[in-house]
Amino acid sequence: MSTDAGHEGAAVAERVEKRWAVLSVIAVVFMAGLAGFAGIHQATMPQPRVETANPATLHISGEFVESNLGSAVEPDGSVTVRMIGQQYSFAPACVLVPTETPIIIRATSADAVHGFLIEGTNVNTMLVPGYVSTVTARFSTPGDHAMPCHEFCGLGHQSMWAHVKVIAKEEFMQMSAQKRRLDCVEQ
Ligand code: CUA
Repeated sequence: MSTDAGHEGAAVAERVEKRWAVLSVIAVVFMAGLAGFAGIHQATMPQPRVETANPATLHISGEFVESNLGSAVEPDGSVTVRMIGQQYSFAPACVLVPTETPIIIRATSADAVHGFLIEGTNVNTMLVPGYVSTVTARFSTPGDHAMPCHEFCGLGHQSMWAHVKVIAKEEFMQMSAQKRRLDCVEQ
C-alpha cells in the first residue's frame, strides 16, 4: 500500500516537472520571438547603416574637425548638427537649432562611450568611439532643452552636459546667412 502511494507521488511529481519544463521552454521561445520581432520587423536595432569615424584623427581631418562642428543649413532646407562627445564635455556645448525644420544630428565620441539624450524629445542614443550616430529631430516651439550624458563614462560623467537652444526659424536663417556654422556657446 505504501509503495503504491510512493509510486503515485513520483508519477505526479514527474508530470508536474514535465509540464513546468514545457512551459518554461514556451516562455523562452516566446521572448526570443519578441526580441526578433522588435529587432528585425520594427528595425529598432541595429542601426540601418553603419558609418565610421577614426577617434584618433577626429580633430585633424574629416567632418568632425572643430570648424565643422555646430549647425549648418543644407541645400534642401534641413539643418545638420555635427557634434563630438568627449570626457567630459560636448562640442559645441550649446546647440542652436530652428523651429519647424528637419534636424539631422551627426555625432561621435573621441574617447569613451557617452550617452546622447535631449530632454523633452525622443532623441536618445549613444556615442560610440569609431562610429557616427545619426538621429533626426524636429522642434515645434522655441525653448531650451538639457542634454545630459546618460552613460557612465568616467569620474567626470555627472558634469557632462550640453544644451539645445531652439529659436524661431526666421531668426536662425538670418544668422546662418552671416555664418557657416552656428552654435550658442558664447551666449
Ligand atoms: Cu559622457 Cu557620461
